[in-house]
Amino acid sequence: MEQGNLKVLRLHEHPQYLKPCCELINDEWPRSETARMMSLQASCDKLPTSLILINDTKLLLGHCKLTAIPSIPESCFIETVVISKLMRGRKLGSYLMRQVEQYCQDVLKLKMLHLSTKGQEAFYAKLGYEECAPVSIYGTGVTYSTPQNISIKIQNPVPENSNTQAGPQPPPPPPMPKPDRLAMNNTITSTKTYMFKYL
Ligand SMILES: CC(C)(COP(=O)(O)OP(=O)(O)OC[C@H]1O[C@@H](n2cnc3c(N)ncnc32)[C@H](O)[C@@H]1OP(=O)(O)O)[C@@H](O)C(=O)NCCC(=O)NCCS
Repeated sequence: MEQGNLKVLRLHEHPQYLKPCCELINDEWPRSETARMMSLQASCDKLPTSLILINDTKLLLGHCKLTAIPSIPESCFIETVVISKLMRGRKLGSYLMRQVEQYCQDVLKLKMLHLSTKGQEAFYAKLGYEECAPVSIYGTGVTYSTPQNISIKIQNPVPENSNTQAGPQPPPPPPMPKPDRLAMNNTITSTKTYMFKYL
């Protein structure tokens, strides 16, 4: 995967880019370095695979991660697409995505690609991606449902008269999960836009 002065490489074959890649991604989506490094170190020839974009001076310009979708083996999920802040708006994101698509078709023999985004719909639409129902990368089949209020039955409710009893109060229940991706009864509710493209 090489064109002009740009190359797209598999991260696990070039471990010297692990740390710069961690910094590039964390600059956009801050997360613990340990967790990010573990995710990047999982890159392999099958899936997940992290692909990186570098130039002729071996500078890291971009990253993209491919993850399996157990319920759609002919597709994979494109995640963590990022171009370094100073290099945006120069068609590098488009170049990376086109190379990733070629890789998925030629090397992984996939027929389609899925992704989710919140804010970059226009970028992906220009590359031919269309909106679709949410997919899960966690193995369950899913059906689409619009975001809604969800009530949860508390398994062991605190007795009504517990306030009158002596002794320490029980801790408050854990917070509700974030509504970004919430699986209940095999249904995903999402505030993200899911998109796909046939290769
Ligand atoms: C999204 C991102 C990868 C795009 O990379 P890029 O190199 O800046 O994009 P390109 O220069 O290839 O843009 C290609 C086209 O998409 C358009 N575009 C890019 N980002 C856009 C956006 N947020 N909204 C609308 N259009 C956008 C460009 O204007 C350009 O249009 P043109 O062909 O008509 O000139 C980059 O902006 C980035 O890293 N963003 C932060 C991380 C992120 O949000 N990643 C996506 C996660 S889902």
